[in-house]
Amino acid sequence: MTVWAVHIHFVSAQDKTADQGVYTSAQAARGAAVFEAHCVSCHREGGSAPVLAGARFTKAFADATLLSVFTTIQTTMYRLETKRAIKRTRKISNAHIFEAVLSRTAAHRRIVDELLALFGGRTQPVMSHLIEAGKLTLDDLRDAEKAIRKHSAKERAK
Ligand code: HEC
Repeated sequence: MTVWAVHIHFVSAQDKTADQGVYTSAQAARGAAVFEAHCVSCHREGGSAPVLAGARFTKAFADATLLSVFTTIQTTMYRLETKRAIKRTRKISNAHIFEAVLSRTAAHRRIVDELLALFGGRTQPVMSHLIEAGKLTLDDLRDAEKAIRKHSAKERAK
């Protein structure tokens, strides 16, 4: 079960970045408990959402103020809700509680299916675009070939 909470209540520290000493140790400990209870179900290695630590995360949010981190989270959650990847289950005072509806793989598949539908279900125009944009390499094609062979072998075995 999974959950996400937003506090609409801003403090004056909202304009500082985390590196400027915004949190007391007590607040950090409280945050860790909230994270364990409400975030880690999605935000973990192999979970449906990116890990909120490490080089990638630090780079993305190093200069961010608390307010902009908050806004990022809020925007993300509302966007995921619109795409029906998550749904609201409860409200606790000012916090909305969400839970995952789709796995990340399923969400990606849905996006790809929607994209193909735009091209009338034809993959060829999408492939040409990817090739012209330099986004499709020979290695990708070789992997794709392997996957297609494996898939048709499976179909034949049915
Ligand atoms: C139901 C699953 C779920 C829960 C629970 C959840 N999140 Fe997320 N969150 C996501 C997904 C999925 C994304 C990435 C969406 C994307 O990249 O389009 C995300 C993105 C984020 C990001 C942006 C990450 C980045 O590197 O860009 C932050 C920050 C974040 N969540 C914080 C939190 C916090 C804090 C909590 C707990 C209070 C939480 N999330 C709970 C699913 C969840």
